[in-house]
Amino acid sequence: GKGEYDHYMLKEINNQPTSLANTIEGRIKDGDVAFESLPPGSFDDIDTVQFVACGTSYHAAMYGAQLVREAGLRTEVLRASEYESTSGPVDENTLVIAVTQSGETADTLDAVRKATECGARSLAVTNVVGSTAAREADDAIYIRAGPEVGVAATKTYSSQAVTLALLTQRIAADVPEGTPADDRGEMLEALEDLPKHVETVLETSRAEALARDVFGSKSYFFIGHGLGHSVALEGALKFKEITYEHAEGFAAGELKHGPLALVTEETPVFAVSTGSDSDSKTKTNAIEAQSRGAPIVAVGPDDQSLVDVADDHLSVPDTHPVWAGLLANVQLQLLSYYAARQLDRPIDKPRNLAKSVTVE
Ligand code: M6R
Repeated sequence: GKGEYDHYMLKEINNQPTSLANTIEGRIKDGDVAFESLPPGSFDDIDTVQFVACGTSYHAAMYGAQLVREAGLRTEVLRASEYESTSGPVDENTLVIAVTQSGETADTLDAVRKATECGARSLAVTNVVGSTAAREADDAIYIRAGPEVGVAATKTYSSQAVTLALLTQRIAADVPEGTPADDRGEMLEALEDLPKHVETVLETSRAEALARDVFGSKSYFFIGHGLGHSVALEGALKFKEITYEHAEGFAAGELKHGPLALVTEETPVFAVSTGSDSDSKTKTNAIEAQSRGAPIVAVGPDDQSLVDVADDHLSVPDTHPVWAGLLANVQLQLLSYYAARQLDRPIDKPRNLAKSVTVE
């Protein structure tokens, strides 16, 4: 049941320190990544990694794909429903990773079948043991988030992103062209603190008060660059899904190529940062929106110049930039939740949507 919480969504958001600890458990050994079913050498013959997914899982896949790219491998991240029209060449050296919480999403299953028909090797990253994706793929890795009841995916997104980050380091170590992150040790060490940092966000978040302030705007924009871009897209999806308000996520640099025409004092802009070099782009574009009257909310670590110019701030603890984006996302989950609550929406079961989409 929901226990002390009014909604499953809030329960699941608050469960993240525990679900993330489960995701990580036993998977970092002696400063290296260990996956039970995939020992070192498992990815020797892979030269391209394709991610296929839908919705929130697609945003987690974007996160994973950026890390794969940084590790020196060729990678593509494809919306499962557009697989045929967007996939590059596939052969037996391609690893297709299906990112699907339920393991039952028809579009995703279909994309993996198409890739494997072309000879690709398949791997399911899923929450559900024995799901169709897990059974059909050559291998499966479980994100171990525990059951998620709310239609809005929250804790499963965080566990997917962490699992994919770990998997990337495993693959990069195997593949000859792969270059595991220089600061891999630091990154893995910082990961062990992630559950604790999520706890801090949950305890200190000002999202509820902020949701009250921004209520009644015309539209809500979410922007970011690099890993922050995928978090911005996820923030906007969650917001529209449960508040029924219009929200859009953009790559920060794209704002000036069209969407800026919509920006007024009635379009708050949530600018996601991760504490990395990529934040400067987000800042420049946030200032452009601000000079058209938009209130700017910085979402990210304190120690960055975006915070100085922003009108408000949803703060996250200082950590490795790879994990800071996930903390920013927790702030955005809370923002959506409290905005939807204020609007009296049926948070756990938004209209027209199902937890698992088994039609194409
Ligand atoms: O079960 P899956 O991860 O394959 O589901 C994919 C999407 O349908 C899902 O993430 C959807 O976008 C969420 N309800 C968003 O919160």
